[in-house]
Amino acid sequence: MKDAAPATAPETFYLKDYKPFGFEVETVELTFKLAPNSTRVLSKIRFSPQDNAADPRFFLHGEALKLISAKIDGAPVTPELIAGGLICDTPGTPFTWEAEVEIAPAANTALEGLYMSSGMYCTQCEAEGFRKITYYPDRPDVMSTFSVRIEGDETVLLSNGNPAGSGEGWAEWHDPWPKPAYLFALVAGDLVNHPDHFTTRSGKDVELNIWVRPGDEGKCAFGMEALKKSMKWDEDVYGREYDLDIFNIVAVDDFNMGAMENKGLNIFNSSCVLASPETSTDANFERIEAIIAHEYFHNWTGNRITCRDWFQLCLKEGLTVFRDAQFTADMRSEPVKRIEDVIALRARQFPEDNGPLAHPPRPEQFQEINNFYTATVYEKGAEVIGMLKRLVGDDNYDKALDLYFDRHDGQACTIEDWLRVFEDATGRDLSQFKLWYSQAGTPRVKVSEDYADGSYTLTFEQSTPPTPGQPDKAPRVIPLAVGLLAANGDELRATEVLELIEAKQSFTFDGLASKPVPSILREFSAPVILERETTNAERAFLLAHDTDPFNRWEAGNALATETRVTMVTEGAAPDGAYLDALEKLVRDDTLDPAFRALVLSPPSQSEIAQTLHDRGVTPDPQKIYDAAETFAQTLAQQLETSLPRLYAATTVDGPYQPDANGAGLRALNGRILSLLTRLDGGEQAARQYQAADNMTQQYAALAALMKAENGERQSQAFFDQWQNDRLVMDKWFALQVACAAPDAAAKVATDLTRHTLFDMKNPNRFRAVMGALAGNHAGFHHASGAGYQLLAENLIALDSLNPQTTARMCAAFQTWKRYDSARQASIRVELERILATEGLSRDTHEMVSRILQG
Ligand code: PHE
Ligand code: ZN
Repeated sequence: MKDAAPATAPETFYLKDYKPFGFEVETVELTFKLAPNSTRVLSKIRFSPQDNAADPRFFLHGEALKLISAKIDGAPVTPELIAGGLICDTPGTPFTWEAEVEIAPAANTALEGLYMSSGMYCTQCEAEGFRKITYYPDRPDVMSTFSVRIEGDETVLLSNGNPAGSGEGWAEWHDPWPKPAYLFALVAGDLVNHPDHFTTRSGKDVELNIWVRPGDEGKCAFGMEALKKSMKWDEDVYGREYDLDIFNIVAVDDFNMGAMENKGLNIFNSSCVLASPETSTDANFERIEAIIAHEYFHNWTGNRITCRDWFQLCLKEGLTVFRDAQFTADMRSEPVKRIEDVIALRARQFPEDNGPLAHPPRPEQFQEINNFYTATVYEKGAEVIGMLKRLVGDDNYDKALDLYFDRHDGQACTIEDWLRVFEDATGRDLSQFKLWYSQAGTPRVKVSEDYADGSYTLTFEQSTPPTPGQPDKAPRVIPLAVGLLAANGDELRATEVLELIEAKQSFTFDGLASKPVPSILREFSAPVILERETTNAERAFLLAHDTDPFNRWEAGNALATETRVTMVTEGAAPDGAYLDALEKLVRDDTLDPAFRALVLSPPSQSEIAQTLHDRGVTPDPQKIYDAAETFAQTLAQQLETSLPRLYAATTVDGPYQPDANGAGLRALNGRILSLLTRLDGGEQAARQYQAADNMTQQYAALAALMKAENGERQSQAFFDQWQNDRLVMDKWFALQVACAAPDAAAKVATDLTRHTLFDMKNPNRFRAVMGALAGNHAGFHHASGAGYQLLAENLIALDSLNPQTTARMCAAFQTWKRYDSARQASIRVELERILATEGLSRDTHEMVSRILQG
């Protein structure tokens, strides 16, 4: 099921070329006769030509389809089959198209279109997978109602919308809401359900189900609670009610992404919905709650209002990520969620925005849209909405959203529509703000300050480095949330949002008795890099006193980064003042444990590499690794006397609950355990491992022990206990590679790819090993080049089976220009080897070419 090899340069699609489809699709009727190698799909589609249909011929997308027959108004026709679809003459008046095609779901390893996973049929149609199911105008601006009949032996036959009848070996579904084909879904399997129901605020009873393979029914309760909370939250906060009689979620083991918001029938990667205390960590629970919410929220932001074309992807994704972040902040802790999101943004989006793959949240061109489901579209897309909300204010945001739903319900929209709603609701001109959607790159904001006669002036200068295709950038609107502190820690000025709109601009605060300490970019009010000359003493002051929790954490993070950088560049010892500050913080019981755990979590080694590179120093991954080890060892020694007490004080007693408070305590407890293990050789960790009745504590103990003497034995015990649980085994595979020493990582990963439980066709398992290799900074970038070589070999092997997952994983190479010329040369060899692979997919071809060119 592989895409054809690009013999010449693959076609590029441009935003500026948008043209509406020449026909309206009034109704779609589909019949599926399921068989693993020869499924028949019958379609009956009512088309009516639009005014703009100058050409009476029409084009329908289609890929990997065997056309059995085609008719127009009941009379057989012979369409012209071309690459990517067919062309057919039409009557020029409304007509009915009927086609029968044959497809082979069992042979579909690309996991796009109709495929099989562990014996069940399932579909994935976003972005352009429906064309692998039948001939259709597979574009999001073509919306229609769907009626579906499924014929198969499976006990459970599901599609979108409401049930419309069923019997032995068949079921029918009708979805009354017009939708684009990418939201189509079908599932057939011998599944069991976890049922529940929800009453909407207008009193409608909705049937809810989570469908899983037999044996997994005990892992659905948490997801179901998350779903009900999401439904309630969207009513309370956005005034949005659910609009069908039934909402189904299905868990599948083989899935390229996290989950999919198909109308009324969400399909989830089983890792993003199945949860139990014994098999899932606190982090898994938090993520599952967020993804269930995300997919549910898409029902309004994505489904009822969808995208005109795929360039507008961030219209639904940025907004829905923003909404799920608000939800998590409400369910858990707002500052902790914000800090976690900024850590993730810097780890995933900043490298993208500052490397060869940089693109704006709304890209203007692509070869393969699957390559644009990126951190920039999703996470930066959400940051842009956060800035908009901060600029217009909370009440205006609510007004604009109400107008958005009123005005655009049932439509396929653009970023222009979205911004116009805000302009109309608030009267504000957003033309400069719009640059956030069209310009790539992370802005740098340089800060300088001046104090004289009670007047304090902050001057900001913004600039954005060149990105591919965008050498020069215009100044953007940057909301800077700023507060001022007095030398004794009192807040002199509460948070105020300064709007930076010029390349260089000053703001003055009058009536100050002495020079204040500024706290800038509170709550991380804009996705920028702040550059300001300051001292470690001032950072330590903010770490101790800032009233904004985000900036408190940020000050600690900056101290950690500075310490690490001087350790690497000057061979210095860890900064004593910083160690003291950390110690104080860890022991401060008035602070949220989750916050303390975050302050104790060091910046990633990859982030240190980026910082060094930004300062003109070529990063040496081994030295960065050594500094991290030395720092942790020194911190453990500094805390030696208090660690046992802290460990005891943060141990959660009683039965496991995946709530935010317990999770925060366990996160802190896990950090302390890993430090303790450096001193006691793993005694306490081994005890915790034995006593643990939940995965969070079992996994934390195992992770701590991996580097101690008995790590191997413990890891074997873990394997023996969990070898039949696929999701837990993914953790085991990943941990082996993540914990491997720099010179061993490639070897460990190689051995794991030969393990009987390794299966490259399962994206979760492939990512467990290869994702962990790419994430083991010093191991992946080991001077031998073995890490690069292993990843490249596996990407080449996977590409012919699953182009999407292969292409996404290529991003591991995007930071290559940070490193020394020897490493760059080794990476170039691997990238060129991938590119030279015969029959390489369009997906991987585009990614590797961009990485090489940038
Ligand atoms: N639209 C899905 C989401 O964000 C992601 C997805 C994209 C899933 C493409 C599958 C394929 O929730
Ligand atoms: Zn989404």
